[in-house]
Amino acid sequence: MKVGVLVSGSGTNLQAILDAQRAGGLGPARVAVVLSNVAGVRALERAKAAAVATEVLPHKGYASRQAFDEALVATLRRHDVELVALAGFMRLLTPTFLGAFPGRVMNIHPALLPAFPGVHSQKQALDYGARVTGCTVHFVDDGCDTGPIIAQAAVPVLDDDDVATLTARILVEEHRLYPAAIRAVAEGRVRSEGRRVKIAP
Ligand code: GRF
Repeated sequence: MKVGVLVSGSGTNLQAILDAQRAGGLGPARVAVVLSNVAGVRALERAKAAAVATEVLPHKGYASRQAFDEALVATLRRHDVELVALAGFMRLLTPTFLGAFPGRVMNIHPALLPAFPGVHSQKQALDYGARVTGCTVHFVDDGCDTGPIIAQAAVPVLDDDDVATLTARILVEEHRLYPAAIRAVAEGRVRSEGRRVKIAP
């Protein structure tokens, strides 16, 4: 199953996915292309280092969100992408995009959804005083971090945490959880019943 990974930044989750693929931990999933809406980001270097095709589509070059999403879809189709994994991709997708890959768009979020959606989730957790936070892999719908949950991992918040230390602790779990979830979807072990998502062993 050909996977398109959408990025905007550093790409540590992309790296975890590429490392899992090399180690045989991605099952039948193969990263066919890494697409960034920002030129020059570290994620693109990681893709090139792994000999994976890259595409850059700056969203500012498009008149509307929909026009941008149509270009994204066309680019992913050229690479025969069947499954889309958002990995730090900082754009909201329209129904135009989601309709092109129904039930086949995944995201990772650095909090235990539905807590702390949107941006700066680690700071939100600290400011709220949460003692436990974590990360969530979910299917993407047209809301912001509202799609059906596939997998979650909990992470403690320690008394002396700041955003950097908490972010790092969450990322350790993200890097484990996301490749495993992609593998489960690619192996056809993930079944949706309304909002509930079940994963066969
Ligand atoms: C991660 O925290 C992910 O959960 C969020 O964006 C961040 C991306 O980090 N969606 P990286 O680019 O994978 O290092």
